[in-house]
Amino acid sequence: MAPRASCFLLAMMFSASCKPIISSDQMCTEKEANNTYNCENLGLTEVPDTLPNTTEFLEFGFNFLPAIENTTFSRLVDLIFLDLTRCQINWVHEDSFQNHHQLNTIVLTGNPLIFMAETSLNGPKSLKHLFLTQTGISNLEFIPVHNLENLESLHLGSNHISSIKFPENFPIQNLKVLDFQNNAIHYLASEDVQALEQTTNLSLNFNGNDIKGIEPGAFRSKIFQSLQFGGTLNLSVVLKGLQNSTTQSLWLGSYDDTDDQDLTSAMFDGLCEISVESVNLQKHTISDISPATFRCFTQLQELDLTANHLNELPSGIEGMKTLKKLVLNVNSFDQLCQISAASFPSLTDLSIKGNMRKLDLGAGCLEKLENLQKLDLSHSDIEASDCCNLQLKNLSHLRYLNLSYNEPLGLQSQAFKECPQLEGLDLAFTHLQVRGPQSPFQNLHVLQVLNLSHCLLDTGNQHFLTGLVDLRLLNLQGNHFQDGSISKTNLLQTLSSLEILILSSCGLLSIDKQAFQNLRKMSHVDLSYNSLTGNSMDALSHLQGIYLNMAANNIRIVPSHLLPTLSQQSTINLSHNPLDCTCSNIHFITWYKENLQKFEGSENTECANPPSLKGVKLSDVKLSCGITAMGIFFLVVFLFLVAILLIFSVKFLLRWKYQHI
Ligand SMILES: *[C@@H]1O[C@H](CO)[C@@H](O)[C@H](O)[C@H]1NC(C)=O
Ligand SMILES: *[C@@H]1O[C@H](CO)[C@@H](O)[C@H](O)[C@H]1NC(C)=O
Ligand SMILES: *[C@@H]1O[C@H](CO)[C@@H](O)[C@H](O)[C@H]1NC(C)=O
Ligand SMILES: *[C@@H]1O[C@H](CO)[C@@H](O)[C@H](O)[C@H]1NC(C)=O
Ligand SMILES: *[C@@H]1O[C@H](CO)[C@@H](O)[C@H](O)[C@H]1NC(C)=O
Ligand SMILES: *[C@@H]1O[C@H](CO)[C@@H](O)[C@H](O)[C@H]1NC(C)=O
Ligand SMILES: *[C@@H]1O[C@H](CO)[C@@H](O)[C@H](O)[C@H]1NC(C)=O
Ligand SMILES: *[C@@H]1O[C@H](CO)[C@@H](O)[C@H](O)[C@H]1NC(C)=O
Ligand SMILES: *[C@@H]1O[C@H](CO)[C@@H](O)[C@H](O)[C@H]1NC(C)=O
Ligand SMILES: *[C@@H]1O[C@H](CO)[C@@H](O)[C@H](O)[C@H]1NC(C)=O
Repeated sequence: MAPRASCFLLAMMFSASCKPIISSDQMCTEKEANNTYNCENLGLTEVPDTLPNTTEFLEFGFNFLPAIENTTFSRLVDLIFLDLTRCQINWVHEDSFQNHHQLNTIVLTGNPLIFMAETSLNGPKSLKHLFLTQTGISNLEFIPVHNLENLESLHLGSNHISSIKFPENFPIQNLKVLDFQNNAIHYLASEDVQALEQTTNLSLNFNGNDIKGIEPGAFRSKIFQSLQFGGTLNLSVVLKGLQNSTTQSLWLGSYDDTDDQDLTSAMFDGLCEISVESVNLQKHTISDISPATFRCFTQLQELDLTANHLNELPSGIEGMKTLKKLVLNVNSFDQLCQISAASFPSLTDLSIKGNMRKLDLGAGCLEKLENLQKLDLSHSDIEASDCCNLQLKNLSHLRYLNLSYNEPLGLQSQAFKECPQLEGLDLAFTHLQVRGPQSPFQNLHVLQVLNLSHCLLDTGNQHFLTGLVDLRLLNLQGNHFQDGSISKTNLLQTLSSLEILILSSCGLLSIDKQAFQNLRKMSHVDLSYNSLTGNSMDALSHLQGIYLNMAANNIRIVPSHLLPTLSQQSTINLSHNPLDCTCSNIHFITWYKENLQKFEGSENTECANPPSLKGVKLSDVKLSCGITAMGIFFLVVFLFLVAILLIFSVKFLLRWKYQHI
C-alpha cells in the first residue's frame, strides 16, 4: 500500500516537472557531434554562434547570405564540405576561404552570382568539387581560375553557357566530371574539344543542350569515361561528330518532354566509327527496327532500350556476340520469345521490368542464354499457373531472379529445378500458389537470399522451405500465420544457416518459446509491426549479439526473467510500444536506463501507461518503487493509528469484560 502511494505521489511530482521545452530560436541540426551540421532553411544571415569551430560538414542552404566575405566562415577553419545552395549569394569576395585549407567541396547551386573575385576560391589546398549549377553563368571566363589545380568535378548545369571554350590558363588536367547539362550549347568546335585532351577518363555531360553541329573530327582519338548527349534532336549529328573517339559509355536517351522524331536505322551508321562499350537509347522510338538497325551495335557490351515502344526485337540480328547486358524495361512485349534472345548468346544480364502489357513467359524463350546470370522480370504482369521450369529452361547459370510484383504464380515442387545455381530469388508482392506438399525450392542448395514478402503464403506448410540449406536472408514480411502464432513446429525450422529473418507486419500475436530453436546463426531479427507481447522474446533466448527489432508491437511489460536474453543482444528497437511505466515494470525500466546504448529509436520509446506519463520517454522516467521517506512517514502514521486503535479496543474490551463480571 505504502510503496504504491509514494510511487503515485512521485509520478505526480515528476509529470508536473516534465513539460516539454520548446526552444524559440530555431537551431541547426547536429548530425554528428562537433562535425556535421544542417542549418538549412532557417533564415540565417550568418553562421550561428552555436556551431562549433570544429565543424567539417556544413549544409547551410536556403538561408540569406548576399555576399560571402573573408569573415563569413572564418571561424570554421576545419570545413571540408560546404553547401550554400540557394542563399541568394550575389558576391563572393576576395579570400573568402583563405584559412579553409581542408575544404574540398563548395556547393553554390542556385545562387544568382554577379561576381566572384579572382582570389575568392584561394585557400583550400585541394578543392576537388565545385558546384556552380544554376548560377546564371554564361561564360566560362566567369569562374576564377586561381587555385583550381586539383579540381575533379565541375558542375555547370542549368546556366546560359553557349561555348565550352575554357580560358587558356584554366587547369582542367585533373577533371573527371564536367557537367554542362541544360545549357545553350549548340555547336562543338574542334579547338574547344581539343582543350579537354589534357584530361583522362573524363565524364562529359551535354544532356539537354540540343547539339546541332559538331566540327568533323572534333573528338578524333579522344578517350572518355562517359559521354552524355541526352535530349539531342538529331542523333546522327552526334554520332558523326564522335567519329574515331573512344568512350566507355554513351548516353543518348531522350526525355518525356523532348519532342523528338523517331530514329531511323541509318542514323546509327556513325556508331560504327566510335569505340564504345555501353549505349543507352532510353525513350526513343526506332521507326524501322530490323536486323540492320543493329549493324553498328556489334561491338557493344551493354545496350539499354528502356521505353523504346518495342513490341518485338526482330529475329535474324547478327553479330551481337559481345553483348553482356541488355535492358528492355518498360516496353510492350506480349511474349518473352519476342525479344529474340538467341541473337544475344553471351548475355549475362537481362532486364525486362515494368513491361506495359501482360508478359507471357512462353516456353524455353531464353534457352539459348546459357550464360545468363541475372534476370529481372519484375512489375511485368506475369501470370503462370505452373512456373517456372518450362519458362526458365536451360538457365543453369542463373544466379539472380527477380519475379517481384507480378500476378499469381503457381509453383510445383522443385519449381526452379532448371536454375540450381540461384543465389538470390525475389518473389515479393507476387501471390504464390503452392501446389502439393513439397517445397518448390527444394533443389536450391546455394540460395542465400529469398524475398517472400507479401506473397500471401500458406505458412502452415512446414515443408515449404526445405532444401534451402544455405539460406542467409529470408523476408516473410506481410505474410500471415495461422491464429497469429508461430508454433514450435513451423516452416522456419529447416533453415539452419539463416542469419537475417524479417517477420514484420505478419499479424503475429505470439511466438512459441522453441519456434526458432534450430536457427542458431541469426544475427538480425525483425519482428516490428506485429502485436507481440514481451513474452514472445523468450523465443530468442538461445541467440546472442543479434539486432532485434520489436518496434510497433504490443509490449507493455518486459518480465524480468527476459532481461538476460535482452542483455546478450547487441541492438534492440522497442520504439512505438505501449510500455507500462508503473512499478510492475520497474526492473525493465531500470535495466533499460542502464543499457541505453543498446537501444535504437529511444526517441520514440515511450510510456503509454499510467495516463500521467503517457508520451514520456522511457529514458526520462523516474520511478521509485521502494519505501521512501514519504512512504515511511505514512507507514508510521498508519501503524501509530493502528496502535492507538488497538489500545482503545483492548481498553474497551477489558472495561466491557469487567462490567459483565
Ligand atoms: C565535442 O566538443 C566538446 C567540447 O570541445 C567535447 O567536450 C566533446 O567531447 C566533443 N564531442 C565529441 C563527440 O567529439
Ligand atoms: C578581411 O579582409 C579585410 C580587407 O579586405 C582585412 O582588413 C581583414 O583583415 C580580413 N579579415 C580576415 C579575418 O582575414
Ligand atoms: C573559435 O574560433 C574563434 C575565431 O577563430 C575564436 O575566437 C574562438 O575562441 C574559438 N572558439 C573555441 C571554442 O575554440
Ligand atoms: C574511370 O572513371 C570511372 C568512374 O568515373 C572509374 O570507375 C574507373 O575506374 C576509372 N578508370 C580509370 C582507368 O581510371
Ligand atoms: C577516322 O579514322 C579513319 C581510319 O583511321 C580515317 O580514315 C578517318 O578519316 C577518320 N575520321 C575522322 C573524322 O577523323
Ligand atoms: C540530321 O543531321 C544530318 C547531318 O548530320 C542531316 O543529314 C539530316 O538531314 C538531319 N536530319 C534532320 C531530320 O534534320
Ligand atoms: C542449353 O545450354 C547448353 C549449355 O549449357 C547448350 O549447349 C545447349 O545448346 C542449350 N540448349 C538449347 C536447347 O539451347
Ligand atoms: C526486384 O525488383 C524490384 C522492383 O523492380 C526491386 O524493388 C527490387 O529491389 C529487386 N530485387 C532485388 C533483389 O534487386
Ligand atoms: C527483397 O529483399 C531483398 C533483400 O533484402 C531486397 O534487396 C529487395 O529489394 C527486396 N525486394 C523488394 C521488391 O522489395
Ligand atoms: C526502429 O524500428 C522502426 C520500425 O522498423 C523503424 O521505423 C525505426 O527507424 C527504427 N529506429 C531506428 C533508430 O532505427
